[in-house]
Amino acid sequence: MRDFWKAAACAALFLLGHPAWGALDPDRPTVLVTGANRGIGLEFVRQFAERDYNVIATARKPEAADDLNALAEAHEHVVVEQLDVTDHARIEALAAAYAEQPIDILLSNAAITPRYKTAFQRVKGMDFDMARQSFEVNALAPLKLAQAFMPNVAASQQKKIVMMSSKAGSFAEGPKMPMMYSYRGSKAALDMYAYTLSFETAKKGITTVLLSPGTVNTTPGMKMPNAIEPEESVRKMLAVIDGLTLENNGQFLNYEDGRVVGW
Ligand SMILES: NC(=O)c1ccc[n+]([C@@H]2O[C@H](COP(=O)([O-])OP(=O)(O)OC[C@H]3O[C@@H](n4cnc5c(N)ncnc54)[C@H](OP(=O)(O)O)[C@@H]3O)[C@@H](O)[C@H]2O)c1
Repeated sequence: MRDFWKAAACAALFLLGHPAWGALDPDRPTVLVTGANRGIGLEFVRQFAERDYNVIATARKPEAADDLNALAEAHEHVVVEQLDVTDHARIEALAAAYAEQPIDILLSNAAITPRYKTAFQRVKGMDFDMARQSFEVNALAPLKLAQAFMPNVAASQQKKIVMMSSKAGSFAEGPKMPMMYSYRGSKAALDMYAYTLSFETAKKGITTVLLSPGTVNTTPGMKMPNAIEPEESVRKMLAVIDGLTLENNGQFLNYEDGRVVGW
């Protein structure tokens, strides 16, 4: 039976037409990062690569992901895969291609993040298409990824599912202002999906957490007040991820100190 799945995985790999796990070292831990071409995702790839992880770095448009491709060229254990996280068939094809690959950390990072121009839009100007799209990318996609890659995480040493959330989606700690409707609603939904999922993952020894990265400068050419740089945010999140145990399963944690963020 195992041979059948291996053959199926190889066939899927052939159909996908890429080198995939040929470049991954079985003796290293492995992380899969979505939205890896820029911002916090790119910095995760950089820092995991420097720690000698295998990195499966996904991007919507790898052909235009110059910074990511440069990292992959510099680190032979970084592989770049095309993935629009709303494309569930593609997620399943990738999961089939990597069926034999343990994934220590499944890191759902990709998101539609608020744009400065629309962040303060009141309900009168609400863009409902954007809201639906945000729900697909920010809430449903991390759950679909968890569904597809759960066996890979269960087969790994560390067994961690990490989803990037935001305090903007928290009733307790979010801004008490009418802003970022689509983003806040989608992140609040993500929090509940991860919380619900944690009751399943506990049974498999998998720790599922949400992380707040802080306020991070990721818009090129724009510095937000009191924001930190991706290097600091990711360095501190890696310390939190390193320290995760099953006790943290189902929690929403802060980047800086690993404290529990209020829902
Ligand atoms: N920056 C902050 O202050 C902050 C604060 C709280 C939470 N967060 C969270 O941290 C994570 C990273 O934030 P960031 O600031 O680095 O975001 P960002 O700079 O806006 O980058 C978003 C990433 O998600 C990708 N993405 C968007 N839609 C996608 C799709 N359908 N399929 C695949 N990839 C898609 C983008 O790819 P393209 O380049 O192809 O668009 C890009 O790689 C997000 O989950 C965000 O909500 C950030």
